[in-house]
Amino acid sequence: MGTPAAIAENIYWVGVVDWNIRLFHGPTLSTPYGTTYNSYLIMDEKNALVDTVYAPFTDDLVDKLKQLIDPARIDYLVINHIEPDHSGAFPVIRRLCPNAKVFCSQRALEGLKSYYGGEYDYTVVKSGDTLKLGKNTLAFIEAPMLHWPDSMFTYIPEQELLLPNDAFGQHLATTYRFDDEGELEFILGEAAKYYANILMPFSAQVLKKLEEVQKLGIKIKTIAPSHGLIWRRNPEAILSAYARWAESKGRPKAVIAYDTMWNSTEKMAYALMDGLMAGGAEVKLFKASVSDRSDVMKEVLDARAVLVGSPTMNNDILPVVSPLLDELVGLRPRNKIGMAFGSYGWAGGAQKIIEERLKAAKIELIEPGPSLKWAPADADLDRCRELGKEIARRIAD
Ligand code: FEO
Repeated sequence: MGTPAAIAENIYWVGVVDWNIRLFHGPTLSTPYGTTYNSYLIMDEKNALVDTVYAPFTDDLVDKLKQLIDPARIDYLVINHIEPDHSGAFPVIRRLCPNAKVFCSQRALEGLKSYYGGEYDYTVVKSGDTLKLGKNTLAFIEAPMLHWPDSMFTYIPEQELLLPNDAFGQHLATTYRFDDEGELEFILGEAAKYYANILMPFSAQVLKKLEEVQKLGIKIKTIAPSHGLIWRRNPEAILSAYARWAESKGRPKAVIAYDTMWNSTEKMAYALMDGLMAGGAEVKLFKASVSDRSDVMKEVLDARAVLVGSPTMNNDILPVVSPLLDELVGLRPRNKIGMAFGSYGWAGGAQKIIEERLKAAKIELIEPGPSLKWAPADADLDRCRELGKEIARRIAD
């Protein structure tokens, strides 16, 4: 089950490692490296536990707590976020520390009562409220829509330590706890996948919250999120990455996502890619049937163009392309241009369906993309290459 990890004087990670989870948020987000559910114990004149863990790992959390403290001595329980991966162990922890006061946001209170029922000694807190533990203070910062309405950060000014729950997290199961113990580029890559698939629809709120935190003038030495590694060496790296992702300016990069029946649409995808590359753009190309949707969204995050292709089948797009478009509609990437392309035999129609879905995703459609009958001739592929070059020009710095 492992041991607690000290992250500051008398402050410990008491979370758990889930090595085996491969799909998160139901079946929506792939987690090939597993994840962690991080919980933090602050031992002071008053003892506080910030967040719990996913219910199946309750025993693991309790075991780690008992290595440090009799759980009955926990005075305060802070629930930064009610999603069950962080609040699942709450009912058991409540039984083990029956006198602990529970602190949460107003929206969290509604959710906690709904999930777990019971009459507890809840105290609703809002931004600016503080709770003195002794040497340390817990300062609460509401963070609605990062990524649920109830989400909240807890900040400990004496340690310059931010406990932001889901924000700044990564789905990584590891034997180490800190960013300086792994490869920064890899950790940031997993943070990008996490941001793209969980926080991208809320980029406006992320930007606002980052500005608000900056205006508060608080110093941040360590960021300890509720998933993955603790940012103790590179808090600036993840803060600036979040600012970049939330601003959604992107870079000269295009994502081409498609599928194909008899390779005509595929030939078009490759010709578009050739044109984009000739125009100086980076391209990430995904065949929907063999690609991980969460990985596609990760690449969409900093792309400026999204091209989606499908042949027409039964007056519709290929079923395998639909989930990608659904994901784009849900995640609402900002500041992207888009184009539909594809081939057809008896009758077209796929292109219009893709265009409608791209519009629903708030992706700005550029000129109508190529829609070709039967197989593309050389001239058709030349036209795709020219379109690719034109898109590269539009997304250049
Ligand atoms: Fe990690 Fe929103 O739960």
